[in-house]
Amino acid sequence: MKEIQVKKAFEETFGGTYRFFAAPGRINLIGEHTDYNEGFVLPAAIDKRIYLAIAPLKGSIIKIKSLDFDQSVEINIHEPAGEMPHWAKYPYGVVKEIQAAGYSIGGFQAVFGGDIPKGAGLSSSAALESVFAKALNVLYKLEINRMDLAKIGQRAEHNYAGVKCGIMDQFASLHGKAGHVMKLDCRSLEFEYFPLQLEGHELLLADTRVKHNLASSEYNRRRADCEEGVLLLQSKMHGVKSLRDVRSKDVYPYRDFLGEQIFLCCEYVTEENERVLYTTKALEEGNLKKVGELLYQSHEGLRAKYFVSCAELDLLVDVARKTEGVLGARMMGGGFGGCTINLIKSDAVEAFKQKSAKAFSESFGKEPVFYQVNLSEGAREF
Ligand code: GLA
Repeated sequence: MKEIQVKKAFEETFGGTYRFFAAPGRINLIGEHTDYNEGFVLPAAIDKRIYLAIAPLKGSIIKIKSLDFDQSVEINIHEPAGEMPHWAKYPYGVVKEIQAAGYSIGGFQAVFGGDIPKGAGLSSSAALESVFAKALNVLYKLEINRMDLAKIGQRAEHNYAGVKCGIMDQFASLHGKAGHVMKLDCRSLEFEYFPLQLEGHELLLADTRVKHNLASSEYNRRRADCEEGVLLLQSKMHGVKSLRDVRSKDVYPYRDFLGEQIFLCCEYVTEENERVLYTTKALEEGNLKKVGELLYQSHEGLRAKYFVSCAELDLLVDVARKTEGVLGARMMGGGFGGCTINLIKSDAVEAFKQKSAKAFSESFGKEPVFYQVNLSEGAREF
């Protein structure tokens, strides 16, 4: 549906021919807040996307219309930019970062829109960066490889949206493969595809529909805490470049030295890294029960050590624990709202939805929204 609307809006707004691209949102099975610690993550691209119709223009003017916000911007990319709506910072950031990497591009006119719920932790912003990065790469024959496109998107997020994110979301949006999760080593950037064979189970997302507005500042603070932890541990251990280099059991002896806040943060990240490795092993063995247990442990760490959960997410995970047929659940993404991801038996889905909707509305006066997602291809031209 959205695809057709985006094409139609391009024809009505600009007319003429265009090329058509899409980039997906992502889920993350496990490995939260590990990417910026050079650790491991296990994301997958999903079948919710941002669609982009785009045509090159002579000169240096870019014209972008957001269908969903019903707003347009027109910017000269060779002049200092003035105020712009928040959504425009992502494509504009991508353009500026492509230029900063030494490539030359011209103007364009574009319309985009999508069906990735915003603020749900499904990385609609990374999808927006990725779809523009992919399209400009093709349009201007830049021949930038996919990983470098992901880095351009990440830098756009750092320098234009102000979030010091890791590489996971942009990586996933550009590299997704149908039916597969991807184990990414965020240090070497090597990755492997793992088929996700769920036989009789599914991944169900439960969206709290809350986005606490502290999210970006708290995210940046966690990142700073990890960096401080690394500095402190370096004075005690050899060969530590990031928390990736530390085993969880080696953190505990430094509890007092690190202080409670930094200690818990380092303990969480080192444990979560290990959980990603246990999860890929469990997937290889077809042991979904074990995968589920690891998801619950991940949530517990995010809640009680990393402090990025919230009451709404905790309630959904509690209900999951008490529902027969749910193997595992945890909050997903940066935190402070968004979705939980649930590994659940297909025949338990309806019961879980009803139970959690009831408990959620009793506590918060509204209902969560559920999404069943399929793992899908990364950014591409149609
Ligand atoms: C956000 C960031 C990612 C990652 C997750 C937490 O989605 O964009 O880089 O850090 O939070 O795992």
